[in-house]
Parts: sequence; C-alpha cells; structure tokens
Amino acid sequence: MAEEIQKFKVTIDGITIDVDPGTTILNAARQIGGEIVPPAMCYYSKLEGSGGKCRTCLVKVSKGSEKDPRPMPKLVASCRTTVMDGMEVLNITAPEVVEARKAVVEMLLINHPLDCPVCDQAGECKLQDLGYEHGALQQRYEFERRTFERIDIGDKIQLHMNRCILCYRCVFVANQLTEKREHGILNRGDHAEISTFIHQALDHDFIGNVIDVCPVGALTDKTFRFKNRVWFTKPVNAHCNCSKCSGKVTLWYKGTDVIRVTARKDEFDEVEEFICNECRFERKHTDDWVLEEPTKVSDQSVIASNHYEAFNPPAVIKNDPQLKEANVEQLARSEKLK
Ligand code: SF4
Ligand code: SF4
Ligand code: FES
Repeated sequence: MAEEIQKFKVTIDGITIDVDPGTTILNAARQIGGEIVPPAMCYYSKLEGSGGKCRTCLVKVSKGSEKDPRPMPKLVASCRTTVMDGMEVLNITAPEVVEARKAVVEMLLINHPLDCPVCDQAGECKLQDLGYEHGALQQRYEFERRTFERIDIGDKIQLHMNRCILCYRCVFVANQLTEKREHGILNRGDHAEISTFIHQALDHDFIGNVIDVCPVGALTDKTFRFKNRVWFTKPVNAHCNCSKCSGKVTLWYKGTDVIRVTARKDEFDEVEEFICNECRFERKHTDDWVLEEPTKVSDQSVIASNHYEAFNPPAVIKNDPQLKEANVEQLARSEKLK
C-alpha cells in the first residue's frame, strides 16, 4: 500500500491550506486563489527552472514553521521558497510587502518606455497591471533610458528589447521546447539583453510560444502587430486536428476575421498547452478550426469590457454543411443563449 504523504499546513494572509511538501509559497497561494496570489513576472509553472529573477512575488514569512517559529529575516521570493509545516506568510496584508512591490515596479520601469497606448501587449500585460496598482507618479531615475533597435526574429516575431524585463521565460522556451538553443541573454547588469547571436532567426516549429510566455510587449506576433486593441477582439476557443501539437487554441476575432491565434491560457495567464507555429501563424481562417465556445475572460480583465454571452458564428459556418456539422454543439449553445 502506498504510503500516505504527510501534508504541510501553511497559512497565507490568514487562509490556511494543506499542501504537499516541496510546494512553493506561490503555488500554495495559487491553490487558495484570489487576491492573495502574489504577482509573478518571471515564474512559469510549465518552464523548468523559471522564477527568481523579477522579485515581484516577494512575501513576508512571519512564522518559519511549527518547529522553528522564528520569522524569516528578509522578504522572500515566493516562487523560489518552499513551504514548511506550520508556516505563516503575509502577502497583501503586510505593508512592507506592498512597499517592496512598489520598489520592484519602480525598478522594472526604470528602462521601460511608456508605450502602453501603442503596445500590442496593452490590456493583457502584467507590468501594466502592476504599474496601475503599485506605480509611483514620478520616477527618481535621472539617467537616460537604454534603447535598442527593433529586431526581427524570423519573419513572424519581433523583439522590442526596450520593453524586455529580462525574465528569461523566452530563453527557457527556446531551451526546453526546441532542440537547439539559438538565443539567450548577452552581457550582464545594465547591459544585459536578449540576443539571437547575430540576430539569427529562431527557426523551430514551437518557437512562436515565446510570444505567449513574454509577460510584456517585448516579443510580439508580427502577423497581429497593430491590427487591433485586444479589448476590441472576441476570443473563442477552438481546436483542429494538428499533427504537431494539441491543436487547442484561442482564436481572436475582429468581426468575422481571425486576426490572431494564441495558445489557451489558464487563470494565472500561463499557457495550458504550447502550440505549433503552423496553428499560430498559418491557420487564420474560421474554416481551419472547429469552434468550441467563447473564451472565459476574468471580470478583472479589460477584455471583459467587451463582454458577450454568445458567439455568433460567421456565415461561412452556417452555410457550409460540413462545418455546420462539426460545430453543431456550439451552434446549439449560441441559439439557446440568444
Ligand atoms: S509592455 Fe506592458 S507596460 Fe510596457 S508598454 Fe507594453 S503594455 Fe505598457
Ligand atoms: S523578451 Fe520577454 S520573455 Fe524574453 S526575457 Fe524579455 S521580457 Fe522575458
Ligand atoms: S516570479 Fe518570483 S522572482 Fe519572479
């Protein structure tokens, strides 16, 4: 008989939960959910070794464990600190955490341009959210911001290094999803930059995923750039029979046109399953897909301002008997919701 694993009791902002040993504070908070989940700009549960770079997930450990109740002397990165039995953690209830997060945001924005009005990431950008929640009205930094020319990484992806926060997620994608590593971070400190080593194209079936994992608008989809603001689009879950990936995607509609295809994301804004370049860049017609249902969007998201109950399938589906059959469930649902 399998031995029962002893769970650890951890309390975060007054809410107690039992988790497996080895769980990080961040993942314990995610199991609780809601506002007490620390923001995470570099940790990505699907990318091995991620986390520990941005410091947005700092929390206060007010009680180390049942056995050693001393508090930890400094704020800790919740994505890199594992829970102990009886640990007590403060996130939004500790003024010093909120203060530290403000400082981290100020630091992240030192070199970051105020590009939101023209940035494709606006509306789904964690840095933008953090800026609103914790940003100071004025910056104390007196020196010139570092600036870079935009670089095309292949014909479908553009790197705008000015906006990069050096979270390393894209480097992990290149390392872990492709066979050869062609890009990484060159130099260190204020000179650090993402580079493809002599601007080589990252030519791999799954490299488009760097766009989805980038928490800011540094890596963008050139087939979508400047096509629309994300809050004017309608995301719809769809799938296709793809030989390279699961084929499960979100289609972003403008009217009846698919203007962007992305992987589906979970409540923590992480990709559920990585998708291939063909699904992302080449399948931009409704008839390439079997539609499922409108993507669930958090009420907190600006995308939800474009709230809709039912997706009205384009005429191409209604008029094509084959597509109609493939989408029969979805059509029935939208009829019911009318
Ligand atoms: S990356 Fe985010 S914060 Fe930066 S300009 Fe774009 S939307 Fe604004
Ligand atoms: S380009 Fe994006 S994903 Fe890559 S390190 Fe910079 S911010 Fe992170
Ligand atoms: S999410 Fe923990 S340090 Fe970045």
